[in-house]
Amino acid sequence: MFYTLLLATIATSGVSTAPTTTHYAKRINAVGLDVKLSVANGVLTTPTDGRIVLMLAPDGTDPLLAIEVDSSPNKIFGLNVYKFGANDTVLFSGGSNSSTETGVYGWPNITLDKIPAGTYSVQAFLNNYETVTRSDGSTVTVHFPCGDGAPNVNTFGSLITTAVDLDISGSTQTLELTFDNTTAIENFTGSEIGGCNQGNYEDTEYLKHVKIRSKKLSEFWGRNMYVGANVLLPSGYKANDTTTRYPVIYSQGHWPAGQGAFRYPSADFSAAWDNGTIPGTNTTKERPTPKMILVTFRHEAPFYDDSYAVNTANLGPYGDAINDELIPHLEEIFNTIQAPYARIQEGGSTGGWESAASLIFRPDLFGACFSSYPDSLDFHRHQDIELYTAANAYQRADGSFVPSIRKFKNGTEVVLATVANENHWELTFGTASRSSNQWDIWNAVFGVQGYNNYPLEPWDKITGEVYPEAVEYWKPMDLSNYITSNWNTSRKLGKALAGRVYVYVGSWDNYYLNEGVMEFQKRTDAVGGTGWANVTILPEKPHGGNYQDREIWNYLEFLEAWIQDHGPNGTNPISSDATATSTRGNYWEEVIQTGGRAAAVARQAPPSITAGYGVRVGSEIEACVGRWDPGVTLTAQWAVGGKADCEAFEVTQGEVLKYKVQKKGILHLWVTGEKRNYVTETRKSNSVGVSG
Ligand SMILES: *[C@@H]1O[C@H](CO)[C@@H](O)[C@H](O)[C@H]1NC(C)=O
Ligand SMILES: *[C@@H]1O[C@H](CO)[C@@H](O)[C@H](O)[C@H]1NC(C)=O
Ligand SMILES: *[C@@H]1O[C@H](CO)[C@@H](O)[C@H](O)[C@H]1NC(C)=O
Ligand SMILES: *[C@@H]1O[C@H](CO)[C@@H](O)[C@H](O)[C@H]1NC(C)=O
Ligand SMILES: *[C@@H]1O[C@H](CO)[C@@H](O)[C@H](O)[C@H]1NC(C)=O
Ligand SMILES: *[C@@H]1O[C@H](CO)[C@@H](O)[C@H](O)[C@H]1NC(C)=O
Ligand SMILES: *[C@@H]1O[C@H](CO)[C@@H](O)[C@H](O)[C@H]1NC(C)=O
Ligand SMILES: *[C@@H]1O[C@H](CO)[C@@H](O)[C@H](O)[C@H]1NC(C)=O
Ligand SMILES: *[C@@H]1O[C@H](CO)[C@@H](O)[C@H](O)[C@H]1NC(C)=O
Ligand SMILES: *[C@@H]1O[C@H](CO)[C@@H](O)[C@H](O)[C@H]1NC(C)=O
Ligand SMILES: *[C@@H]1O[C@H](CO)[C@@H](O)[C@H](O)[C@H]1NC(C)=O
Ligand SMILES: *[C@@H]1O[C@H](CO)[C@@H](O)[C@H](O)[C@H]1NC(C)=O
Repeated sequence: MFYTLLLATIATSGVSTAPTTTHYAKRINAVGLDVKLSVANGVLTTPTDGRIVLMLAPDGTDPLLAIEVDSSPNKIFGLNVYKFGANDTVLFSGGSNSSTETGVYGWPNITLDKIPAGTYSVQAFLNNYETVTRSDGSTVTVHFPCGDGAPNVNTFGSLITTAVDLDISGSTQTLELTFDNTTAIENFTGSEIGGCNQGNYEDTEYLKHVKIRSKKLSEFWGRNMYVGANVLLPSGYKANDTTTRYPVIYSQGHWPAGQGAFRYPSADFSAAWDNGTIPGTNTTKERPTPKMILVTFRHEAPFYDDSYAVNTANLGPYGDAINDELIPHLEEIFNTIQAPYARIQEGGSTGGWESAASLIFRPDLFGACFSSYPDSLDFHRHQDIELYTAANAYQRADGSFVPSIRKFKNGTEVVLATVANENHWELTFGTASRSSNQWDIWNAVFGVQGYNNYPLEPWDKITGEVYPEAVEYWKPMDLSNYITSNWNTSRKLGKALAGRVYVYVGSWDNYYLNEGVMEFQKRTDAVGGTGWANVTILPEKPHGGNYQDREIWNYLEFLEAWIQDHGPNGTNPISSDATATSTRGNYWEEVIQTGGRAAAVARQAPPSITAGYGVRVGSEIEACVGRWDPGVTLTAQWAVGGKADCEAFEVTQGEVLKYKVQKKGILHLWVTGEKRNYVTETRKSNSVGVSG
């Protein structure tokens, strides 16, 4: 979860929980816009698949200035293109809110023929995709990021048009725009291997950059894939002094190496490391630098700015790439203490979930996690959605919209975006969970592959209808479910993790992440006793800051004390049972077997007719419609002699049809399944011979 969103100013007029719409209603026939896009000579050498995002920003403002869901004044439209070549043109017209696979999708709930009159700055971006077949046999067309942390628009290597000012008034008009430039890829000057993936940065005295080719990820994706780390060394660190060894803080979070601000580990940490000055004061600590190594990871990935640091069927073995390839490499080249008690996981938000999951799946590798305001630890509340029981992710039973982003103003909650609005906003940037935004990466990380090879989405992205079967596949990533169901198994997590899981959240978390933390606490307390997981909920604290809202130096000393206390000479050493290999979870082989292509195929079945021997006209038979992915809508037809024998009729998944046979001949049931982003498919049942 990005908390930069919060920098946005809050609309003082009060933000309603429903997306605004009435504003446009009066102008329905008054205005309209078509946008025709072409490519300038030399800008596109080979045809590409991708997503074009068209932005209309008010009154000549830079369309990229404000694109966040809770603050953007833009109208944003998205359209997929397939094999778009140098001499091709594409027309943006209309903007139905449903045909997102091949049609134009507009946000907020708008079409190009209903744009309010005014002056706009208009610009388009083409995010290019590549098609790959992964080692499990699943073929996907996705964007491979190139050193910029995979932003949702204007990513490195995008085709872009010049922004033009346009007056929209009265009649329909066609605007012609030309992709005449590409977003420059930074010139990475570091000495690491490989191309632009994960960047390539120059080292300074204390900040080192490491990048390796991941064997496991490359094998999965069928192309070279890298993972990287930014390594902040303590002052006085000497590479050749291998007897002085340091514990390592693995600080999880978003892309830590983008343009400018995020190149370092967090500014807070860096400042403490640089000179020991407590930020905002002139107080210098006696001991200028913590005697620890701080590591952040660079793992931009197809689907998001990071991989969530675990093994998943949609992103591949990132957990193994980081934990079994990159960390051992770091431990070879830096003077680290190579023991679980001296490997600490920490982070906030996305990094909060990652740090918790890293410890929970790998108690054999890490000592503890200090997880701050983590993404949903327990899907009984996925943000504020009651995911296991809700019929709809966007609207509650009482009709109210589920909120997604809030802020407290003078003690009163102000909702800045709803789950519906945010998901619709994401859809403009990509279909099939490819927006490189928050809800989509959760779909990719928490869920399995769909039969279409893309993440099996837990709900309909447009209507919010929840698919319980798809949600069921999220359970291995529901961390409290994982812990409680492995409590007494051979992993013995009840014992292994006791005293090692620390979670902090504020009760005013801007993304309702306190809800999932409370569910996690409730469920782990229920089996482990009160306080099994050490959960701190600070009243009235929003999203952000260090663990328990500590000042940075205090936090670092706190971590150092934990490490000392749990080391071999400490008062509370971690037992070897607790770090046994048998505690390990999230095995890649199991993840891909249960969530990859083979599992998706195994979920399918053709329709079938159950009929005894000797079916005659007038016999009553039964048929089932087959098995399909959740969300596939079905129509059926009886066919005799290979020809349809009735009008197509709607059927539902799991339905058992009863049918009185009408005609002699060879009888089949044909069932056609349709779902957004799926190929429409007709499956035929077994044949049954009907005699007169
Ligand atoms: C595009 O059109 C130009 C001019 O007609 C032609 O020379 C060129 O080969 C075409 N390029 C492609 C990729 O078809
Ligand atoms: C899509 O747009 C149509 C027409 O404007 C509207 O009737 C329908 O309710 C919209 N659907 C959603 C899910 O917004
Ligand atoms: C979208 O707008 C249409 C009318 O313009 C309205 O019927 C529909 O409810 C809106 N959908 C959402 C999700 O707001
Ligand atoms: C293309 O974009 C770069 C920045 O990425 C800019 O410096 C350059 O001037 C642009 N070129 C044209 C022809 O607009
Ligand atoms: C990268 O280097 C090339 C060639 O020197 C230059 O044209 C380009 O502007 C540079 N890009 C950036 C982002 O600095
Ligand atoms: C380590 O390297 C420094 C300079 O790089 C040198 O002065 C010192 O003697 C070396 N120490 C050892 C133990 O090799
Ligand atoms: C210490 O580092 C911080 C952050 O880099 C900087 O703002 C501050 O001026 C530095 N203080 C001293 C005494 O160098
Ligand atoms: C730190 O010292 C500088 C220079 O002496 C002074 O201007 C500033 O106000 C001091 N800041 C604090 C927070 O004390
Ligand atoms: C905040 O709430 C208090 C008590 O309700 C009220 O007196 C005060 O005017 C409010 N302040 C603002 C800035 O709204
Ligand atoms: C674990 O096993 C113990 C002892 O058999 C039992 O009391 C406890 O309920 C079990 N806990 C869970 C979560 O299965
Ligand atoms: C929970 O952790 C805090 C430090 O964050 C510590 O002070 C407290 O004693 C711990 N509580 C338990 C029950 O271990
Ligand atoms: C533990 O104490 C022993 C004896 O004082 C010392 O040799 C050893 O280095 C210590 N180990 C750690 C990890 O501090």
